[in-house]
Amino acid sequence: MDVNDPRLVSAARADDDAQYEAGLRPRRLDDYIGQDRVRENLQVSITAATKRGDALDHVLVYGPPGLGKTTLAYVIANELGVPIRTTAGPVIEKPGDLAGILSNLQPREVLFIDEIHRMAPAIEEILYPAMEDFELDIVIGQGPGARSVKVPVERFTLVGATTRAGLLTSPLRARFGIVQRLDFYTVADIEEIVRRSARILDVPMDDEAAREMASRARGTPRVANRLLRRVRDFAEVRANGRITLEVARAALALLEVDASGLDEVDRRLMLTIIDKFGGGPVGLNTLAAATSEEPDAIEDMHEPYLIQLGLLERTPRGRLATARAYDYFGRIMPARGLF
Ligand code: ADE
Repeated sequence: MDVNDPRLVSAARADDDAQYEAGLRPRRLDDYIGQDRVRENLQVSITAATKRGDALDHVLVYGPPGLGKTTLAYVIANELGVPIRTTAGPVIEKPGDLAGILSNLQPREVLFIDEIHRMAPAIEEILYPAMEDFELDIVIGQGPGARSVKVPVERFTLVGATTRAGLLTSPLRARFGIVQRLDFYTVADIEEIVRRSARILDVPMDDEAAREMASRARGTPRVANRLLRRVRDFAEVRANGRITLEVARAALALLEVDASGLDEVDRRLMLTIIDKFGGGPVGLNTLAAATSEEPDAIEDMHEPYLIQLGLLERTPRGRLATARAYDYFGRIMPARGLF
């Protein structure tokens, strides 16, 4: 994922998001808004593990970027009352790096691995015995004289996060006792998140303004919090600092975020399918080349929300613009023949 993606409504984490997100992040499950099913499941498992005094089962959290996977990992550690260590799949370069992390864990500690689908296979293999039996298989020496020794590690909880559960190898996936999917949030949930963030940031805001921002935040807390910061800037410079509905609308218009939260790249993707490829189906790589976007970014960041809105379909033959997309962009849908 391109962490430097400058798009305002991108769900990817931008450099300056981390600092704001840290202050806005809920710390307890009770403060975590939305995702009721996930919250309830975790509540039960955490309470049970705490009662037994055991480490929580390993947890896999998957879903589109910006929905709070990292936040959830911190909440889990906090609810368990244990420390958390965080790393990411692409950051772990050598098996020894991971072995070092694992052998230094405290009892019941949470190890958070973001983008776990991007871990190298040789590194993944270190993880298997650690997750299953809480031991490391260390190979000493090389060639015929090499031997393997087992080194115990503390009982810990691995929290893995991925935007692509489908890319996880099955042995890795099978080792997670708890698997939870995060979905896009409802507008009502995002509205509550915007109001909570505004309270924390001490920004005066009208309720209708919160709803307006929420409805354009693509069901994604990261986008909502980013819109709030930009709209706050606008309110301070062009108004008296209060975010009213009028201020929010003017700021969002200036930011070119449309009524459904689509930005310029989303519009370009959809209009390319409609205008250049007769509505599709068009293959992902062709679409990427035609729009100068990365296939991974299209697949991870743009498509999930366009699919959620019912504007785009993924079919075995490629991407298809729906009747709703033609309607949304004011185009006439050509008759798709049956023959
Ligand atoms: N920030 C990110 N995710 C959140 C959530 N689910 N509830 C409240 N604040 C959040």
